[in-house]
Amino acid sequence: MITLGNPEELAILLREQRQQGHRIAFVPTMGNLHDGHISLVREASRLADFVVTSIYINPLQFGANEDLDKYPRTLEADQQKLQEAGNHLLFTPDSTAIYPEGLERHTKVIVPLLTEGLCGASRPGHFDGVTTVVNILFNMVQPDVALFGEKDYQQVAVIRKMVRDLRLPVEIRTGATVREVSGLAMSSRNGYLSEDQKAQAAQIYTTLTAMREQLLKAAHDLPTTIAWGIEALEEAGLRVDYLEIVNSDSLQAARDRSEPLTIAVAAFLGSTRLIDNLSLSPIRDTE
Ligand code: PAJ
Repeated sequence: MITLGNPEELAILLREQRQQGHRIAFVPTMGNLHDGHISLVREASRLADFVVTSIYINPLQFGANEDLDKYPRTLEADQQKLQEAGNHLLFTPDSTAIYPEGLERHTKVIVPLLTEGLCGASRPGHFDGVTTVVNILFNMVQPDVALFGEKDYQQVAVIRKMVRDLRLPVEIRTGATVREVSGLAMSSRNGYLSEDQKAQAAQIYTTLTAMREQLLKAAHDLPTTIAWGIEALEEAGLRVDYLEIVNSDSLQAARDRSEPLTIAVAAFLGSTRLIDNLSLSPIRDTE
């Protein structure tokens, strides 16, 4: 596996791949890789001849009081995992390569509406940072297909919308959320948790699955199910940032059970913010 941080070198190498008629798959990440990331890399290697993963901790998507400085950096372990998963090239640009004139002066890509609710409401500007960096990375890698995890449900919706609106010539695929045995969705931020907190955090998925059961059985109306879920999370010692039942496509609060439903949650355990979601119908890679 090759590791490089220079976009010009990347372009030369990828041009060679394209000249050989190779299909290129791309998995953007911020590193500290776990089985969730690796499942995307493995799927990428099924879909394409040449797999590129990037590791770049994008300052533009972190708020002022967020964990940019303490975000885990584990390059050697990441390289090992990527090598084993069949990744061909690891791209590790620095901020000079991505934002040569600095964050303030850089052109931003902004997706309206879809970014207003859920994580967008609690993390102002976060998705502008995501779409801006993903757009830059797409232009550097020019992949045929790019893979994202359902774990970040709103992120996938926002990226699909950007790709549609800007006619970006890339196919977007999603990978199912990879979980610990306890049900806790794998996340780089789980590393901030003690063992006890991890057990508490597993209640997030327990609550989501119980809410899904209630919805499938039509046991309660939507507001009652949400109120039940908030109480369950609070009883487990979590501080709920949001818990919503949204339309899986528009991400607007769902009105009734006839819509495609996704339950989306963000909750704090101490200062660690965890997110998860569960859809009632399977997610399709339609575009
Ligand atoms: P990061 O949090 O490192 O995640 C990289 C990719 O891995 C994302 O597509 C994310 O949805 C996916 N992922 C994370 N945890 C997962 C899990 N448990 N199961 C399946 N997939 C999982 O998301 C980002 O980085 C950044 O916002 C990025 C897109 C790289 C832009 O900076």
